Amino acid sequence: MSHRNPAHPNTGSHRVVESSYATDQTAVKNPLPKATAAETAAVLAEVELPMIIKGPIIRRPKVVSAVERLGLEARAVKRMQTMAQKYGRGPLMLAVPGRNMATVLDPDHVHRILEESPEPFATAETLKVHALKHFEPKVALISEGADRARRREVNEQLLDHNHPIHRMAEQFMPAVREEAAALLAEIANNDDAGQLDYDTYFTAWFRLVNRVVLGDSYRDGAELIELMQTQRKRGNFAFLRPVDKGARSEILQRIEQAVEKAEPGSLAAFMKQMEAAGEADTSRDENVQQIPQWLFAFDPAGMASYRGLALLAAHQDRLDAARYQIQDQAGAKAPMLPLLRATVLESLRLWATTPMILRETTREVEFEHGVMPAGTTVLIFAPFFHRDENNLDFAHRFAPEVWDHERTREEWPLVPFSGGPGICPGRHLVLLLTSNFIAEIVGNRGIELTSHELEPGNLPALLDNFSLEFRLSPR
Ligand code: HEM
Repeated sequence: MSHRNPAHPNTGSHRVVESSYATDQTAVKNPLPKATAAETAAVLAEVELPMIIKGPIIRRPKVVSAVERLGLEARAVKRMQTMAQKYGRGPLMLAVPGRNMATVLDPDHVHRILEESPEPFATAETLKVHALKHFEPKVALISEGADRARRREVNEQLLDHNHPIHRMAEQFMPAVREEAAALLAEIANNDDAGQLDYDTYFTAWFRLVNRVVLGDSYRDGAELIELMQTQRKRGNFAFLRPVDKGARSEILQRIEQAVEKAEPGSLAAFMKQMEAAGEADTSRDENVQQIPQWLFAFDPAGMASYRGLALLAAHQDRLDAARYQIQDQAGAKAPMLPLLRATVLESLRLWATTPMILRETTREVEFEHGVMPAGTTVLIFAPFFHRDENNLDFAHRFAPEVWDHERTREEWPLVPFSGGPGICPGRHLVLLLTSNFIAEIVGNRGIELTSHELEPGNLPALLDNFSLEFRLSPR
């Protein structure tokens, strides 16, 4: 059942990408404050555009490097600060022709919007739907109503989303250790002994991901990853590129085979087991369609953990403390490693891999200062909240202590994994695997950041993961 309202008769066919919730902004009584055309152009150019050109679904390395060099991310945060100074709490409607769009300026509104998802703030925002339909048209994130509820539930169960240590963690740990050891051996054997670059790290990381998600025999399954990457590149263009249905169904068929094969210790096997136990309210087709999201989302987990290595390399005291924890938990079957988890969270706070959280109103919504029309795309620009030095004394430094407890609604919003009922159900699994993977690196090797100089009290607004390099040495 769709919860979408029929399009309002006033919504013209001139809309570039129609929201099916849309009502005409001018028809709303007591509208929210609205930015001028010039301010809107500045927000689109300085906040939206860098994100779009970097590649929202798969990053374009050359553009990431240019955005880092030109300092565009810092400019984006500044632009949002300027808007907040002028307009106060917001939300602020943007003067985008043919589309209702609003940006969030107030921390309480971030909490409210995330808590009140998916009704009236749908996760299935129109542009997101167009981007993700290229490889996962039935994923929970872009589903609605009862479909969404069922599909979300499958994700929550399989990813064990409320548990810091996934119920299959012990089965994942051998893959973590073996793939990290293979990475260290490969680096030691390189001509340029000890040098670690992103390609090498990413390949090792994805061997681990393939094993955990699909099974050990998929370790080197580059073909599926390449197929996914091609579709993600199409996803970067959202509605501007037609869906390649052949490639999309090939991805899903390959995943389906892995579920059928059910290799022990894999999430694919867990899915089949859950189906057999009658615990899934969803069809096999729907279940399989959740897995491309996992494969896709382990890519930013690779970026975040690699940047986490940079944070550790630049903060010797934290590195020492992390090594102490690694040693202390050496006997655990699936170590918790809080400091390394916090390091990955800090990497995500400082350099968010989902910088823009998008929602879309399914009906008119009342705020303190006015009414937001139905069909409004709501932009939560996470770096504005994560890196706002006017409100956070730790905005530009490495502060793992911030994560020593789960964030509450009363606290300033730090939302690397979103929040509320749409929070990332994979967050604990990500933290489990990334923390243990980097523990194998820093626990066994000395590490020096060779490509960048990080100033601890003033960390950059963007850290280009693709050009980050380290030298690893025996310990
Ligand atoms: C560093 C890595 C990751 C980050 C930063 C991240 C962040 C996020 C964020 C911000 C959302 C909300 C998106 C939105 O509202 O539009 C989300 C949703 C989601 N994530 Fe993650 N994620 C990561 C990795 C993963 C992994 C590895 C998995 C699965 C194994 C996963 C599964 C999901 C799913 C299924 C959703 C959709 C939830 C829903 O529909 O309610 N994520 N993630």
